[in-house]
Amino acid sequence: MRNLRAIAWMAAVSGGLAVPAPAQDLKGPIPFPVPQQVSTTKPILVPYDKLFRYGTLPAYHEPEWVSEFVKQGKLPPIEERLPKEPLIVDTSMTTDGPGVYGGTLRHVIGGRPQGWNWIAGRHQGYGGTEHSTMMCLVRTGPMWMLAPEKVEPLPQLAKSWDWSDDGKQLTMHLVEGAKWSDGDPFSSEDVIFSWEDNIADPQMPGWAKSGAFGEGTKLEAVDDNTIRWTFADAYPVTTIYQMALNNFCPGPAHILKPLHPKYNKSATYDSYVNALKPEMLPAVTMGAWVPVGYKPDEIIIMRRNPYFIQVDDQGNQLPYLDEISFKLSTWEDRTIQTIAGTADYTNMEDPNLYLESLKKAAEPNFPNNLYWSVRSLSWRADFNLSTVCGADSDADKAKRELFRKLEFRRAITQGVDRDAMGQALVKGPFVAPFAGGLHIETDFFKPESVVYYPYDVATSKALLKGLGLEDTDNDGYVNWGDGALKGQNLEITFTYGSHPAYALLADTMIGMMREIGIKLVAQPTQGQGQQDILDSCKWEAMLWRGDREFTVPLAQLQDLAPISIKVPRWHQGTGDKDQELLPFEKDMIAILAKIRTEPDGAKRADLLNEYNHIFTENVYHVGLVTIPAALIVNKRFKNVPAGAPVLAWQWSEDNTLRERMWIAKEDQAQVPELMPGVLAGAN
Ligand code: GLA
Repeated sequence: MRNLRAIAWMAAVSGGLAVPAPAQDLKGPIPFPVPQQVSTTKPILVPYDKLFRYGTLPAYHEPEWVSEFVKQGKLPPIEERLPKEPLIVDTSMTTDGPGVYGGTLRHVIGGRPQGWNWIAGRHQGYGGTEHSTMMCLVRTGPMWMLAPEKVEPLPQLAKSWDWSDDGKQLTMHLVEGAKWSDGDPFSSEDVIFSWEDNIADPQMPGWAKSGAFGEGTKLEAVDDNTIRWTFADAYPVTTIYQMALNNFCPGPAHILKPLHPKYNKSATYDSYVNALKPEMLPAVTMGAWVPVGYKPDEIIIMRRNPYFIQVDDQGNQLPYLDEISFKLSTWEDRTIQTIAGTADYTNMEDPNLYLESLKKAAEPNFPNNLYWSVRSLSWRADFNLSTVCGADSDADKAKRELFRKLEFRRAITQGVDRDAMGQALVKGPFVAPFAGGLHIETDFFKPESVVYYPYDVATSKALLKGLGLEDTDNDGYVNWGDGALKGQNLEITFTYGSHPAYALLADTMIGMMREIGIKLVAQPTQGQGQQDILDSCKWEAMLWRGDREFTVPLAQLQDLAPISIKVPRWHQGTGDKDQELLPFEKDMIAILAKIRTEPDGAKRADLLNEYNHIFTENVYHVGLVTIPAALIVNKRFKNVPAGAPVLAWQWSEDNTLRERMWIAKEDQAQVPELMPGVLAGAN
């Protein structure tokens, strides 16, 4: 001990050379403290083939008011609107069985629609808009309710699929005779256009890039109803998970091709991406509902799609609900209004509202059912590890080099008192510590995979000292010992979003970092601001809420390591320069490559835990706290699957299968439809 101290001192006086803190001064990892679950409901597990299936029924039905359009010659009969084999929902697997038509479901959202060209990356405002309009090759949302024997992506526009013997080709059979909401046929042309001219076009800012499907992957049409994937590697089974929302949901080629710069000399990429503005209605969709009404900053109204490909097992075309709406407000207001009964549906993910909501929920005339989910939302502090993106000045470079040192990230993580932070966010059992990496309440998570560095201010200070960072001017903040910032305080900007939970967490984090001698400088943002700063790469540390990628990593394998230049968010490359990888990042990439082609679920789980070990050992990002969310739905609605998670393979708006939800006739008048009698696709 004495010798080590002496060496450190000698090094310090002879030119400020940093030496690592002596190991015996550091508090090492402890077992991860697994919290009690707060989720109260257990799903009814449904066998894979029992949820829905493609097939035929002796007769099909529709709402009477829709038949009127048929009688007047404004709409083809139902048999001509449905595909040859519709997708049949098994109502014996629902809580309230087959439903009746009519009624409306009122959502509130915090996003604003950019337009209807989703295949070119435009969003519709989130909060379930996308889940209402887009249909994708496969569907992953309802996988949360599948019995463990087979938990795999479910059919959607792809009816079925099969692998070639060498595993390098995957042939998908598309639904036959399906139509877009304007009556135009859906075919492999829509799929190939969406792939070639959108996903695989490097100039297009889509949700997914072709790289997400594996380098060198090709897609071709075999005939109108068949497509064939060719992969560079054998059996990349997890690729199928990428073919769900939002990654591979074809756009209407008959509308979009004429607007695309490849087919239209006067079009540009920009004009194409923004071609389908929110006010251009009705939009053309394959989803259960079609946008027909829009007032900026007020509302989006969607009505039933008369060409929707799903029916119940009695032959009733779905959805049961004739209308859904999306009030354009804030995410917090979504929960406030649902609690008050002026909206019908929320994913309560605002810890600041939890206690108040629980109080209301205990009142006898509370209008809603409330289901707590597992902890699937987590906050973390990302430190920008990129040396090639946005690190322009010598000061930037010095900071990035510092962030790339494990000792530094460990100093940060051991300076976070996660219990205190959780209680500052919301009192009670909701919040649990988060070590970073994979979410702790998933089927595959093993607590032993976590390297959990405990809260210990002395360890943080010793680690910083080992890096040459000591408070030399006695102002409470450590000073740089060397380099471009020599002598200055260690100051790091801390960027965060506008939701109240972010401000609260940021304040707590700033206070805790002050204790270890680091000055975090608050940089709050509004609206798109945080995303813009993120994209510019000009940020130092950022507070971020992680969700899907760490809950269902198979759905977003491509985001879990620097496999392409935009990921992960805290380590980006540029068009010219790839990331300078840290050695452990190479190990992670190698593990993810193995997962991609591993058909055995148990082995994939082992590999994911191996990944998590490397992640947490290296404090790849600094996990802070994790919370459960709650699904709250008005009691008018039937067939809401109790315990549907707010976030699993998809957000709740897909998980609850809203196309099967219905309202009893006597309850429908409580909330009148806003555009009764309006039907897109009828003329
Ligand atoms: C936003 C909301 C989520 C969920 C998704 C759906 O991200 O915060 O609760 O509604 O939209 O896309």
